[in-house]
Amino acid sequence: MNAVRSRYRVRYYDAFSRVYDRFVAAHSSDREGRLRDVLAERTALRPGDRVLDLCTGTGATLPALARRTGETGLVVGIDFSGGMLAQARRKIAGKGAVALVRADAERLPFRDGSFHAATCSHAFYELKGESAELALEEVGRVLMPDGRFLMMEHEVPRKRLVRLLFYVRLLSMGLGKALEILGSEEELFRRHFATVERIETETGQSKIILGRTRAQPVPQKGRNHEARR
Ligand SMILES: C[S@@+](CC[C@H](N)C(=O)[O-])C[C@H]1O[C@@H](n2cnc3c(N)ncnc32)[C@H](O)[C@@H]1O
Repeated sequence: MNAVRSRYRVRYYDAFSRVYDRFVAAHSSDREGRLRDVLAERTALRPGDRVLDLCTGTGATLPALARRTGETGLVVGIDFSGGMLAQARRKIAGKGAVALVRADAERLPFRDGSFHAATCSHAFYELKGESAELALEEVGRVLMPDGRFLMMEHEVPRKRLVRLLFYVRLLSMGLGKALEILGSEEELFRRHFATVERIETETGQSKIILGRTRAQPVPQKGRNHEARR
């Protein structure tokens, strides 16, 4: 992503972080956070496993993941907004082995094959065009063989007023590109994962796209970042 655009987007999310949880609570029918539990369940994580939550924001998914990996596992949430991570820090206090890392999803500071699973909740459509491709390439790289990546994303709302609000929000992020992603996630995933599955959620308002890496590792042709931690 171009550096000026990236700085502008980080500032936007830093400002949004102050009201983000209240905004979600006001607009979501999933007040108990049941969808986060569904997402965590579908990771098939076991105690002791390691999981990465991409674009973790205020960390809404981290507690559900930490309940599955337990004290012996590790949950890592990454986000490029320091404001969002500051909110997340409060949420994970006392929740076991959870770490927060400030990083861009396009360039993950982890070794190849570091995680059993990765998740991304209601954030992937904000990574557009080349960003989405780079993020998926990176997720595929840091997952172990037979690893799972679960992306939970909004369905386009059926109710007219909610649909209008949904499009207004997309508009603020560049409607054309966002719609391109919304309509073609499965095709996008097929370019990066061995198998792709679509899972409907019980609310009908969100869907999960599950991509699995190959059972055997494939030699990486492209980038190979060393861990910076
Ligand atoms: C709509 S919020 C979703 C937060 C959270 N996953 C949730 O379910 O509530 C989108 C998040 O993606 C982060 N984000 C967007 N682009 C990113 C990028 N390229 N690298 C890292 N984080 C990014 C933003 O800072 C923001 O916290």
